[in-house]
Amino acid sequence: MAAIITVEGLTKSYASGFQALKGVDLTIEEGEIFALLGPNGAGKTTMISIICGNVRPTGGTVTVAGHDIVNGYRGARSAIGLVPQELQTDAFERVIDTVRFSRGLFGKPRDDAYIERVLRDLSLWDKRNSKILELSGGMKRRVMIAKALSHEPRVLFLDEPTAGVDVELRRDMWKLIGELRETGVTIILTTHYIEEAEEMADRVGVINRGELMLVEEKTTLMRKLGKKTLTVALAEPLAAVPPELAEWDVALKADGNEIEYVFDTHAERTGVSSLLRRLGDLGIGYKDLNTQQSSLEDIFVSLVHQEKAA
Ligand SMILES: Nc1ncnc2c1ncn2[C@@H]1O[C@H](COP(=O)(O)OP(=O)(O)O)[C@@H](O)[C@H]1O
Ligand SMILES: [Mg+2]
Repeated sequence: MAAIITVEGLTKSYASGFQALKGVDLTIEEGEIFALLGPNGAGKTTMISIICGNVRPTGGTVTVAGHDIVNGYRGARSAIGLVPQELQTDAFERVIDTVRFSRGLFGKPRDDAYIERVLRDLSLWDKRNSKILELSGGMKRRVMIAKALSHEPRVLFLDEPTAGVDVELRRDMWKLIGELRETGVTIILTTHYIEEAEEMADRVGVINRGELMLVEEKTTLMRKLGKKTLTVALAEPLAAVPPELAEWDVALKADGNEIEYVFDTHAERTGVSSLLRRLGDLGIGYKDLNTQQSSLEDIFVSLVHQEKAA
């Protein structure tokens, strides 16, 4: 796949002196869904705003579809559709007018067939003559996406598309984003919801305090950093972890009725069989065994934690 966005050595210090980005390198491939995952204040909106040309970088370079965002601003910007974190719409306008108008802002000739397709893709066609203020919150968000797509961009940015949205709407949005990718548009979304990255993305970048801590295929990420938890349901509860189990990373759970052991699935020796043997030697009986793969959430929390401890 070809790169559609390249970010090199990107830094941003705000006028306050606060350093919001500390040297970010990133390449986005055409056609992918990329999730930029990070806690509030990590620098997600700053990064998107710079790529979209709304905020001036302090250092580094960004190219979009072959155009430098500073020297080739118009070319870069016309390749981008942006759905900002804060929804802004002209409440009294009709849906179809606001979407047509957005297209015009990019100097594109009127194209009713294209606008119809966008509105149909977003299930807004029936609402095309409604005033925006008459629409539900979810529909308003769709209008924002339609506006962002109005000038046929190659890349669509969605900054926190489901922040503050209820679970059902979030699922709708995920489905919609999945469908949009079928149109060939590259999608970059920011989120602080781990499930969102897990659900949507082909690749995930974890950003924290202005640093991109890792970028990985979602599946590789989950495999590579994935740990498993073995839960041993005991025949009789224990009051404390016996000292003979000190060499394993175990903890007592469920009022002493379970032993939990976290292990690395890729270690040469996971320690599972030796642990079970030791339990047998100690006469500790068990009723059941269960292992569970760690989620992206565990990975994320451990990354953000490491950073804080450092
Ligand atoms: N205009 C600004 N001036 C000073 N600091 C800012 C400005 N905009 C954002 N910041 C700070 O930069 C950091 C990153 O913000 P932002 O990019 O909005 O994070 P995110 O979108 O990941 O929540 C935050 O600490 C925020 O307070
Ligand atoms: Mg933000």
